[in-house]
Amino acid sequence: MSVIENSKLTVVGAGSVGSSVAYAALIRGSARHVALYDIATAKVEAEVLDLAHGTQFTGTSDIIGGSDLSVVEGSHVVVVTAGAKQNPGQSRIELAATNAGILRTMMPQLLEAAPDAIYVIVTNPCDVLTVLAQEATNLPRERIFASGTVLDTSRLRWILAKRAGVSTSSVHAYIVGEHGDTEFPLWSRATIGTVPILEWEAPGHPRMTQDELDAIAIDVRDAAYKVIQGKGATNYAIGLSSARIVEAVLGDEHAVMPVSTVLNGFHGLDGVALSVPSIVSAAGAVPIPETSFSDHEHTLLRRSADALSTVAESLRG
Ligand code: 2OP
Repeated sequence: MSVIENSKLTVVGAGSVGSSVAYAALIRGSARHVALYDIATAKVEAEVLDLAHGTQFTGTSDIIGGSDLSVVEGSHVVVVTAGAKQNPGQSRIELAATNAGILRTMMPQLLEAAPDAIYVIVTNPCDVLTVLAQEATNLPRERIFASGTVLDTSRLRWILAKRAGVSTSSVHAYIVGEHGDTEFPLWSRATIGTVPILEWEAPGHPRMTQDELDAIAIDVRDAAYKVIQGKGATNYAIGLSSARIVEAVLGDEHAVMPVSTVLNGFHGLDGVALSVPSIVSAAGAVPIPETSFSDHEHTLLRRSADALSTVAESLRG
């Protein structure tokens, strides 16, 4: 993609996720300037050097970074990945108290350095942390949102594309709700091309059954646990997902993406952050109120909201 002139992305956190976001952004040319910030000086400087050593082979993006908050200045988008990550078998929600404390300290500092940026929360549990960060900063709801189920939706589309024998870009299906254990697919609106998902068939790719779709939904929901069990963390797919979100903001694309914003009356939900199809642009993220849900899906959305509201309430100091 052509780099947006003079655009600056700062990634906060130089762990496996943050450095993968920076790496993906460099390769994809998501921003003209990519900065990596972390309080761990040796670590962030090493990550920046390692990334910089490869920039002969990437586009025109450059990479800078360090442990001084001045690194963040002038950012158009700030992606926050700092915090503890899941141990094998640990849920994202179990990270809430630790990472809420980290964000509570960090957000005011970031906002002072980059008061006009769009903030994308990746640190888990990203939905709950987005509510707390929005309350702490009082940023407009569209300017601080979470990567949410963009990653889960990519996992779903990859599985369905293989099963249907089509390109991933021809799978129009979304995971919505929590980026976590209460997430669910919007099957009622899922299509392959223009064909409703349960009517799709092609040579060598027979029709799917609802039971099969339900099994796929479980595979998607549990995907991160499987990867973490095997390699200790997930990083590549969240890195690519985050870079794609950054591009939609910097390019003012008005792209439809299932990011997680603090809802404001969306289908009767208020004050909880959940992923629903939203318009992502230079202004940030705005949920699409015309998104329709079956009765069952609305029940699942409410269940996701109730689960997350309970966690957020428990963390309010
Ligand atoms: C993921 O879903 C752990 O939230 C991270 O890969």
